[in-house]
Amino acid sequence: MKIFLDTANLESIRKFNDMGLLDGITTNPSLMSKEGGNPKDGMAEITKIIKGDVSLEVLSTEYSGMLDEGRSLRNYGDNVVVKVPMTPDGLKACKSLTAEGIPVNVTLIFSSNQAILAAKAGAKYVSPFIGRLDDIGQDGMHLIQEIKTIFSNYNFKTQILVASIRHPLHVVDAAKIGADVVTLPPAVLDKMLKHPLTDIGLKNFLTDWEKLKSENPDIKV
Ligand code: G3P
Repeated sequence: MKIFLDTANLESIRKFNDMGLLDGITTNPSLMSKEGGNPKDGMAEITKIIKGDVSLEVLSTEYSGMLDEGRSLRNYGDNVVVKVPMTPDGLKACKSLTAEGIPVNVTLIFSSNQAILAAKAGAKYVSPFIGRLDDIGQDGMHLIQEIKTIFSNYNFKTQILVASIRHPLHVVDAAKIGADVVTLPPAVLDKMLKHPLTDIGLKNFLTDWEKLKSENPDIKV
């Protein structure tokens, strides 16, 4: 399973990339807006730091605008994946950009039908938003299971990129289903790192070592 970070925050991107955890990044206009500043600088920096796929989203809602923006977003790097919304124009842009060799991530997927259509249009990734489905009382993870079954039935090459993840259990459930990618807010990745027994265990190791050292002041590792 690949791990992407769902953020435009450079500090978080550097922090987790330095740990070797990141296979890619996803951004969207809301995440860009949260960081403020000039988004062009942010996009240039992210595509430089990260070697894997970086999803950058178009803002146009009509076909020719999406094509123009998609092509220009690719100037940030060969690792740019153009993110388009799940709309008729988005699918048309997906087909055209894919034909030009530009990979596409179709975002704002909330049903298996939408995922099937995005795959048929040639998307490299589909992004189902599971947390937002949970928010309205629908089972987001059920959607991931359904898409996984359908894509496997037909050997679709499109990858399932699980988005709108809210907590570490979402990650485990997505991994059990066999989703290709999870894109995580930095706070969720932070929580995945931690376990109270790890902290207690480390504290005890160090205390015991100090005891040994007090008896043998010259010892070193
Ligand atoms: O990539 C965008 C997606 O992950 C949105 O998440 O938390 O705004 O529903 P959220």
